[in-house]
Amino acid sequence: DAEETLQPRPPVVTIMGHVDHGKTSLLDALRGTDVVRGEAGGITQHMGAYQIKTKGGELVTFLDTPGHAAFTQMRMRGANVTDIVVLVVAADDGIMPQTVEAINHTRAAGVPMIVAINKIDKHEANPQKVRERLLEHEVVVEAMSGEVQDVEVSAKTGAGLDELIEKILLQAELMELKANPDREAEATVIEAKLDKGKGPLATVLVNRGTLKVGDILVVGTESGRVRAMLDDKGRQVKAAPPSMPVEVLGIGGVPMAGDRLSVVDSEQRAREVSSY
Ligand code: GTP
Ligand code: NA
Ligand code: MG
Repeated sequence: DAEETLQPRPPVVTIMGHVDHGKTSLLDALRGTDVVRGEAGGITQHMGAYQIKTKGGELVTFLDTPGHAAFTQMRMRGANVTDIVVLVVAADDGIMPQTVEAINHTRAAGVPMIVAINKIDKHEANPQKVRERLLEHEVVVEAMSGEVQDVEVSAKTGAGLDELIEKILLQAELMELKANPDREAEATVIEAKLDKGKGPLATVLVNRGTLKVGDILVVGTESGRVRAMLDDKGRQVKAAPPSMPVEVLGIGGVPMAGDRLSVVDSEQRAREVSSY
């Protein structure tokens, strides 16, 4: 609708790459947290969704992927929530099977990629070899006179992290990402589960509009009313604007990753829509 007032929204950035190349560690370093240490075997089992505030005050939403199953599932279901992919390649390990998979997923999704060459603190690190091997997969980084932005980072020492954020913001600026916050919310389910105490819980990413406590919603074949929302630090929030990830309580059942959530104006309407 032409009447809509579009406003800038934060970019949604998915972190992809081979197992143990440092995706979660990079996010931990950017957020000042230690998620990796709390993970069983240091392996990410579920998709994490976080929002960070940069030094300049801009917000960036990050999705951490466990392998690529969730990303692929969401893409196949038409739920392309990602604006930008950060491909993490460990400088000591180089291009590995899941690195190539991530490149292919990114291409299929048609989103721009930024290459973060991680673990440059290690003495075995060979970032130049990573750049050369990327050429074989037709990824030509800036340092090789190409168009794909690349940056050397270390999640361990923090080297290059400011530059990574700068490159993300630069890419986002070029994309002029916008959404109307002043309408009923539409969101996408990132992950969902049944919590023994709280009932069905869904982490959703708001695509447009603002999701509010009390909203009546339909999501996949489920319906409900937003009883409470938690941000990525577990704090209660009353409203979630575009690009914000929130955990929603109050859905009648457990939806699926990739399901669309819409706010409707009555419980009767919710039951009608969700029964299809
Ligand atoms: P999965 O979620 O299992 O795919 O792994 P991941 O890509 O999230 O990697 P993770 O952050 O779990 O890091 C794997 C290992 O690499 C951990 O032992 C980290 O401490 C280590 N690591 C990550 N980044 C760096 C880095 O910049 N330098 C060094 N030296 N080690 C790092
Ligand atoms: Na890991
Ligand atoms: Mg991880």
